[in-house]
Amino acid sequence: MAVTGRILEAGTNGGTERGRSGATGDEATYDEPTYDDWAAEVRGLAGRRHAVILAHNYQEPWIQDVADHVGDSLALSRAAAASDADTIVFCGVHFMAETAKILAPDKTVLLPDLAAGCSLADMITAEQLRQWKSEHPGAAVVAYVNTSAAVKAEADVCCTSSNAAEVVRSIPEDTEVLFLPDYFLGQHVQRQTGRKLHLWLGECHVHAGIRPEELRARLAADADAELLVHPECGCTTTALWMISDGQLPADRTRVLSTGAMVDAARATTANKVFVATEVGILHQLRKANPTTSFEPISQRAVCRYMKMITPAKLLRTLRDGVYEITVPEDVASRARRAVQRMIAIGQPSPTGE
Ligand code: 13P
Ligand code: SF4
Repeated sequence: MAVTGRILEAGTNGGTERGRSGATGDEATYDEPTYDDWAAEVRGLAGRRHAVILAHNYQEPWIQDVADHVGDSLALSRAAAASDADTIVFCGVHFMAETAKILAPDKTVLLPDLAAGCSLADMITAEQLRQWKSEHPGAAVVAYVNTSAAVKAEADVCCTSSNAAEVVRSIPEDTEVLFLPDYFLGQHVQRQTGRKLHLWLGECHVHAGIRPEELRARLAADADAELLVHPECGCTTTALWMISDGQLPADRTRVLSTGAMVDAARATTANKVFVATEVGILHQLRKANPTTSFEPISQRAVCRYMKMITPAKLLRTLRDGVYEITVPEDVASRARRAVQRMIAIGQPSPTGE
């Protein structure tokens, strides 16, 4: 396991002191902490707090490996709702921790860095949604889970990338649907369900940045590879068009949530699989299937918000109990209905994560 100097960067007492070699004065040298030392400290602190550690598939490898559950947004929401721990430590981004708090209001929910936001969730405010709703009276509102608690409180039902189509199918055919905030996911759901949806023009900067040209270039270099694409990607439409045009084999191209990608990785017998999503997922894919080579379509697909959760910050969280996520109860109670409908729809992944 690669050693990260970032453990030292945070300047927290445990992180800076552990690893000291014992030399003194100017000759002092510092060993970088090993994963095993760090993980033992994390697990010890988590045990003392009776805390469960949840990590999204985009977290860095150390965080994924030390967590109790690693998964996609839906699996982690379900894990938060089912947990009997006193504290949920969410290694992910702010809306995910908020969702955990909505589902588990009596638990302490901690996020290691409050700045870990989501550019997609920032694409729509509750006020903008109220305005949109007023233009479509009677419409059902489907909010992707990548939204603030205040936006969820205005929604009828939430969805994630793993159950978005099933959520839309659960709404009567004759009801208009407002789908927000991700335009590319909305387009994908339209294709899957054959329903015409009103789509909010939002996007994730990481996924929208995975361009069709990169996809074409990678596939041209290795025509036999399989392809896994996250539905938030700017290249999803191109991939599906390439299938219908015969340029891509339909049986080797799939549009999936990050959790479903891990299931697909476990099942594949391909030599190489290209992956169009945030690069953090590669760790789970490679662990799931060490004999297949998993390569990103774009090395630049890095979510800086996800990467704000560092090993040092996780230690600080467990040691100091920071940073606590709160959601005002009037907002939480309205958002809870939409989130609970979401977690009830769709089959959990066979792996449970
Ligand atoms: P998943 O639900 O597929 O893990 O996606 C979450 C997310 O934030 C994608 O950018
Ligand atoms: Fe948000 Fe995009 Fe990061 Fe996912 S990858 S958390 S949608 S900014």
